[in-house]
Amino acid sequence: MTGEPKYRPWLDVAPPSDYLRNIANSATGKGYKAFAKSLLQVEEGSVVVDLGCGAGVDLPAYAKAAGRTGKVIGIDHDADLLAHAVNNASRYPTVSVTKADIHQLPLDTGSVDRIHIDRVLQHVEAPTTVLAEAARALRTDGMMVCVEPDWATLVIDHPDVTFSNAYTQHVIAQVIRNATIGRALPRLLDEAGFNVDTIYPVTAHWTDAVEADKVLGFRDVCAHAVTDGLLPATGTKNWIDDLMTGPFFGALSLFVVSAHIKSRSMSSTS
Ligand SMILES: C[S@@+](CC[C@H](N)C(=O)[O-])C[C@H]1O[C@@H](n2cnc3c(N)ncnc32)[C@H](O)[C@@H]1O
Repeated sequence: MTGEPKYRPWLDVAPPSDYLRNIANSATGKGYKAFAKSLLQVEEGSVVVDLGCGAGVDLPAYAKAAGRTGKVIGIDHDADLLAHAVNNASRYPTVSVTKADIHQLPLDTGSVDRIHIDRVLQHVEAPTTVLAEAARALRTDGMMVCVEPDWATLVIDHPDVTFSNAYTQHVIAQVIRNATIGRALPRLLDEAGFNVDTIYPVTAHWTDAVEADKVLGFRDVCAHAVTDGLLPATGTKNWIDDLMTGPFFGALSLFVVSAHIKSRSMSSTS
């Protein structure tokens, strides 16, 4: 599939802070975020940057890990979410937030020890530019942890498997800009000048349709898809009605990938 998605409910529209907080407080969210943090090996005094920090749900944990001599910088382009981030990190004087587009980081070259980026590359216009900027900002011994979903792994149980598969294809083609970024992380990191250390898949799953819909937004996506003539009205209504009334099972995988900067060759002056 080429070309720009036609319908973009989540693209360029910042998610509400409650949405981000709910994910961070879910069992899966807590688990993978703690794991990502452990991979990043933040030390006392580290300079840590959270790219696309949103409402700042991860800033306090990184502030604690970097200690009183460390520095934590949250960067996001959404002013409303950054206001929540300021609130979230108000007890941590080493945390600052900056409003910027992460395609062009307001960071000096080689000034950062650790970079964290969680569910952001799926939305940006140019993931390779963001990763190149991250590589530029990191010190030669710098490390990065990326967490991104791969929406081709979205499975929603329904007897009409063909419709469920069509729904997943619709999300990939029309809803999420870089829907299959999860599987591409190791390659993109390598191309941006990183050595990949760890690749760890995490599968979130839901057995409650209302809870699943809060994260996956399938009712909203279906409503727009029907309006736009991209999914059939009757079949879509029946699918949604069945999901909301019957037993529910759905799952989506994310990939946690840690990497360090490839050793840069010294430029020769002789
Ligand atoms: C799904 S949210 C994740 C927020 C946070 N990392 C978390 O785990 O809660 C994606 C975030 O990326 C931000 N974002 C998307 N594109 C951006 C860009 N080009 N520059 C800066 N922030 C961006 C959005 O504003 C949003 O806060």
